[in-house]
Amino acid sequence: MNSQRPRARAAILISGRGSNMELIHRHSTTGNCHIDIVGVISNRADAAGLKYAHNAQLPTFVIEHNLYKSRAAFDLELQHKLVTLEVDLIILAGFMRILGADFTNYFAGKIVNIHPSLLPKYQGMHTHQRALSNNDADHGASVHIVTANLDAGPVIAQTKVAIKQDDNAHTLAARVLAAEHHLYYKVVNWLARGIVYVVDGQLYVNNSRLQRPVVFKNNKIEQAYEYLEQ
Ligand code: GRF
Repeated sequence: MNSQRPRARAAILISGRGSNMELIHRHSTTGNCHIDIVGVISNRADAAGLKYAHNAQLPTFVIEHNLYKSRAAFDLELQHKLVTLEVDLIILAGFMRILGADFTNYFAGKIVNIHPSLLPKYQGMHTHQRALSNNDADHGASVHIVTANLDAGPVIAQTKVAIKQDDNAHTLAARVLAAEHHLYYKVVNWLARGIVYVVDGQLYVNNSRLQRPVVFKNNKIEQAYEYLEQ
């Protein structure tokens, strides 16, 4: 790992609670996540996560999507803000807007998202209920690079959570969220440090193609990728 590398300038985009943002911020202050958060941007003025960001003295910006005539006009405003902030990394953390191809292509390889399912399973909404309805043994969350195709960009890492017999969507969502909090900052750190990177839409780790997502179970990384824990 390159400790000389400057911290990545990161913007975190939220729409709601912001618990993943909070965890990433906390880890950035303890040195576990090599980023400077140069902006927290919400598309909703009432996003609860803005309160934490204010208290943590992070620069916050609200760009309310419903004030824009079109999706493209909103995307463009967001793009301008991110360019002004000179971001290296754009972290979606519960950001509930679909970003258009012009936006995702402009920032190709720099946008990362966490999705509450073991992608490619259950793109879109209601993932916890869908995993339960299908009697899956495992559920979880995936961190992936964002492309123009919703929830379909290359997956860097996943965390698996065993489904219990008496789980409902609520109990399962809570355990998945806790696992997300262990996962997201680590993957952001890999990207920030250039340990994992994207070339022509393909993921690389330490100069080799990442052939399949890095899997965490019980918040521990699988053996083949133990070196990533450093
Ligand atoms: C998480 O479940 C995440 O996977 C999904 O939206 C939720 C955001 O939660 N994309 P929070 O706002 O980070 O608490």
